[in-house]
Amino acid sequence: MTDDVTEQAPVQQVQTEGKALEQAFERFARFSDPAALAKLNLETATAIQRELADVRTSRLGKKSAWASTKKLIGRVTPEERPVVGQLVQEIENRVVALVDTIEINLKSHIEQERTARESIDVTLPGRRPPYGHRHPITILRERIEDIFVALGYIIEDGREIETDFYNFTALNIPENHPARGEADTFYTTDGFALRSQTSTVQIHAMQRRGVPIRMIAPGRVFRRDTPDPTHNPMFYQVEGLCVDRGITMAHLKGTVTEFLRRMFGPDTVTRFRPSYFPFTEPSAEFDFSCFKCKGAGCRICKNSGWIELGGSGMVHPNVLRIVGVDPKVYSGFAFGLGIDRMCALMYELDDIRLLFENDVRFLEQFE
Ligand code: DAH
Repeated sequence: MTDDVTEQAPVQQVQTEGKALEQAFERFARFSDPAALAKLNLETATAIQRELADVRTSRLGKKSAWASTKKLIGRVTPEERPVVGQLVQEIENRVVALVDTIEINLKSHIEQERTARESIDVTLPGRRPPYGHRHPITILRERIEDIFVALGYIIEDGREIETDFYNFTALNIPENHPARGEADTFYTTDGFALRSQTSTVQIHAMQRRGVPIRMIAPGRVFRRDTPDPTHNPMFYQVEGLCVDRGITMAHLKGTVTEFLRRMFGPDTVTRFRPSYFPFTEPSAEFDFSCFKCKGAGCRICKNSGWIELGGSGMVHPNVLRIVGVDPKVYSGFAFGLGIDRMCALMYELDDIRLLFENDVRFLEQFE
């Protein structure tokens, strides 16, 4: 016997190499217990799996030191062969069994982690689409419509692009009136006007339905205006028209007053001031007592106690005549008011343009 390693007896040599082989896998050994894997996340487990496969190739593969050691079996004496062969087999079986176990554990742990990560928890609440709601102008328009429908009025839908005839001529607006100018009204390139008031619907409605008639017509109107906190080139109006035999200014006052009471409360007071509109004679503008301070004076009514709301009057005989209605038999009243302005007042908006910018953070506040 000699201490020289190269001269070691074959059995010792196998034992030495076997020990080195087992040491190479030592750091993986604890993963033969599945519990040791439980805490590993997917990334760590995959990395260990890869390392183990590398070590397996380098230590047990064809070019490994262990592969050379195994060749000793062929070189030893026939007497030594069974002993050496059995030892090699024992060591290899032990190491391979360990590595196989670890590989199987890793594989199933990795599969479990993947499934967990990809799985959907069907018991989680779903993502609900956010509920929309009506625009504040729509809310107000529908309240106005409800009141007039209850008073026996129909709702008319007008058109937003008009001819000169409907926008001006039929409404008794003279040829040279400034409203007809391009400074006030938007025109399309082929000469149509974007309606500058909902009064146009009076004409359409009487032409189509004849008289007697009771209708309101809410809708958009357009005027050349520079936008500022109280002006916008597009805004909303509601037009009202009532034509029948024997209609007087008393009906106008009664109707507008009742509307405003239903809108702002039973103690609302209405006031009419003489005014001028080409399509009414006589004409009046109407105000109502401030809904906030009840007439005492506040910021909303600019300390006057009154809020100006719209124009009105008795339908001009020329307007009746142009739609073929005899002014000696029929008479009527009409009125118009701005919805946006009313909306700004009621919700105390300091800038009317907010209503048209469609910023959800603003619109969300009105339910
Ligand atoms: N059209 C008018 C405007 O836009 C409002 C108006 C006044 C409408 C008197 C009417 C009315 O029906 O009779 O300023």
